Amino acid sequence: MIQENVQVLWNKQVTDSCFRIGLNCNPGYSEARPGQFVMLRVLDQLTPLLRRPFSIFSSIKEEGRIIGIEVMYKVVGQGTEILSACKKGDAIDMLGPLGNGFRIPDNCDRLFILAGGIGVPPMYFLASDLKEKSKNFLECEVFLGGRTKEDLFGEDDFEKIGATIHIATDDGSKGEKGFITDLLKKRLTDSEPDMICACGPMEMLKKIGSAARSHGIACQASVETMMACGMGACLGCAVERKDDKQYLHACVDGPVFNIEQIKLFDQEPLDDSLFKI
Ligand SMILES: Cc1cc2nc3c(=O)[nH]c(=O)nc-3n(C[C@H](O)[C@H](O)[C@H](O)COP(=O)(O)OP(=O)(O)OC[C@H]3O[C@@H](n4cnc5c(N)ncnc54)[C@H](O)[C@@H]3O)c2cc1C
Ligand code: FES
Repeated sequence: MIQENVQVLWNKQVTDSCFRIGLNCNPGYSEARPGQFVMLRVLDQLTPLLRRPFSIFSSIKEEGRIIGIEVMYKVVGQGTEILSACKKGDAIDMLGPLGNGFRIPDNCDRLFILAGGIGVPPMYFLASDLKEKSKNFLECEVFLGGRTKEDLFGEDDFEKIGATIHIATDDGSKGEKGFITDLLKKRLTDSEPDMICACGPMEMLKKIGSAARSHGIACQASVETMMACGMGACLGCAVERKDDKQYLHACVDGPVFNIEQIKLFDQEPLDDSLFKI
């Protein structure tokens, strides 16, 4: 974990509410894994006092060496509003890379990736990292969902890396009308992946977990719990374990969990051997 004061390389508005910020970083970030995150706070601002968590969206490289990371964020409150006003050269307090990240086994040939709303950043990092690192890019289908077409992020990025994309919006303004969980259920009746990875609101993760379990497909989910410290000190990011009613902490034990590890829905844990991977 590295704490450093970094500089804004760029801060671009990509939709009404969504921005992409580039930040220079320590070479240690070359080890960062998809699903890991950073805690950011704009220096020279008295409020908010606490850093805010953001997933790493991509790494910025020059001549093959990492020189920065990019974060994609949606403006929802004070911290993100202040971040959105940052200009090139402004200073940010950055702590990271934090958390565990996704773990894709070598025998995974087909992956379904699901992202709801601003759940896109870790899922794009996962897909692009797999494309870069695996000789034979594993077959990757991406499901993007949002309330309206304005809440869909990252479609162009997934297109650029050649992923097959399925889209659903609650109001039908883009893609199929409905939830991506409905698209997933439909797709699973024709074709089953070896694994499902997802990030988005808890309600979405519950439905994905339930669909994965009913098909015996391993599933990892990145949870969006509130975080104050990001390093296991405040115990504010507790996630209930499924087995013994104790707690895991999203910032150190997660944010990526095997859905059989955590209490997403009221069902008993299944034996791991029931899953294909
Ligand atoms: C591991 C992790 C990775 C994240 N990655 C990203 C990312 O890549 N891009 C991005 O835009 N956001 C991401 N988030 C959410 C982001 O941290 C919050 O949107 C941000 O902290 C809000 O700060 P704020 O001061 O603007 O809003 P606040 O004033 O703190 O809150 C404004 C509103 O947002 C809600 N909110 C705050 N934090 C969260 C949260 N974690 N989940 C759901 N609702 C929240 C509050 O309940 C409130 O309604 C991530 C969160 C976690 C835990
Ligand atoms: S955010 Fe403080 S313990 Fe996780």
